[in-house]
Amino acid sequence: MKAIAFVTQKGGSGKSTLCISLAVAAQQAGQSVCILEMDRQATVSDWAEHRRVDTPEVAQIDATQLDDIMTRLRASDFDYVFIDTPGVDSPGSLAAIRAADLCVVPCRPTPADLRAFKPTLAAIYRLEKKFAFVLNQTPPRSYRVRDAADGLAVLGVLPDVNVVMRNDHQDALGLGQGVTEYNPTGMAAQEIRGLWSWIAKRTQGVATNVKAA
Ligand SMILES: Nc1ncnc2c1ncn2[C@@H]1O[C@H](COP(=O)(O)OP(=O)(O)O)[C@@H](O)[C@H]1O
Ligand SMILES: [Mg+2]
Repeated sequence: MKAIAFVTQKGGSGKSTLCISLAVAAQQAGQSVCILEMDRQATVSDWAEHRRVDTPEVAQIDATQLDDIMTRLRASDFDYVFIDTPGVDSPGSLAAIRAADLCVVPCRPTPADLRAFKPTLAAIYRLEKKFAFVLNQTPPRSYRVRDAADGLAVLGVLPDVNVVMRNDHQDALGLGQGVTEYNPTGMAAQEIRGLWSWIAKRTQGVATNVKAA
């Protein structure tokens, strides 16, 4: 079982959106997935309530429960647990980073957003975690995106896919779907499948690594 945490203290970056659509894409690729939601805003639980099927399973938890739940999940049949976190620097976010095999850090390509992810990155480095820096809500083509991307590609943490700003993301979530269910042939679905395939490769063969708090 591998754990993927969606972290960055900047709200509105796309943590919940990517968590949901990647969880669905992972399921469609044959993985069994559950989602732990540590954010009281409950974006993922709201989404699950609108859903017609009962997978992926979603559980709302707080930081104090995470270690116990991870121990139980490790003995379960799940291939992946996705952890959605709140948009603040909280004990929950740190616990999620600690529990993760890979941290997904979504970021909009604006100067303010690119500055705001630095404390998250510092925590990830401190805990010696792998991470993926995902440029989200990008325009289809932009020099700014390429500039943001160029510096990071050398670190091997930048997936070969940017997630473009597309209505499919908002429409899918409103209907309790992932983008690959809502519009399987659309560009948003294609980007999410590409991103999942990058993440799946990067988490293959990674041992689960949870240290006690
Ligand atoms: N790639 C995208 N294209 C269009 N809208 C997006 C995209 N990613 C996120 N959004 C929208 O941006 C808003 C914030 O996203 P959300 O996932 O809730 O961020 P976070 O969980 O980091 O606070 C939501 O309204 C969501 O629908
Ligand atoms: Mg959220």
